[in-house]
Amino acid sequence: MEPADLGSDLLSVMLTSEQLATRVAELAAAIDADYAGRDLLLVGVLKGAVMVMADLSRAVHLPVRMDFMAVSSYGSGTRSSGVVRILKDLDADITGLDVLIVEDVVDSGLTLSWLLHNLRSRGAASVEVCALLRKPDAAQVQVDVAYVGFDIPNEFVVGYGLDYAERYRTLPCVATLAPSAYRG
Ligand code: PRP
Repeated sequence: MEPADLGSDLLSVMLTSEQLATRVAELAAAIDADYAGRDLLLVGVLKGAVMVMADLSRAVHLPVRMDFMAVSSYGSGTRSSGVVRILKDLDADITGLDVLIVEDVVDSGLTLSWLLHNLRSRGAASVEVCALLRKPDAAQVQVDVAYVGFDIPNEFVVGYGLDYAERYRTLPCVATLAPSAYRG
């Protein structure tokens, strides 16, 4: 899918696929340097993190493992509720592993704050976060994010894994939606 495929649904492209690829490669290089010689498990948070997880994990040279969680923080709307529910848990025990949570976006920070507490209580050697996008102006709780792709304005964005009502995830860039798209 390309922006042109969406006609008038998109308002503007915030981050191009080239910008995303460049930044993901930089994040991967930093992760390679920081985790050399350690036993790293990447934990992708479905569904939004699917694109960054796929690209980041392939850009990292270390022999990492992957696992996934699915949590629900908000339904089909555009605002966080603060209510977090595990829809799919990790497949394996993380005791003694270095865990890096891979997220598409930190919005209010409520999901990550909850996830960090949850995973840290399971006996991992370390738990850190890599988030492609962060909205500093939307923060309701402070979360320590070790690797941030881009700090972006507090606008609702879609693409590269991020959805509106389950649509637009397959767009290769990050974009804002036109007001008319919210009615469809
Ligand atoms: C999004 C995103 C984060 C969370 C961030 O997930 O992937 O997990 O919201 O919001 P917060 O910082 O305000 O808690 P969402 O619940 O939309 O599910 P999805 O990944 O399946 O789209």
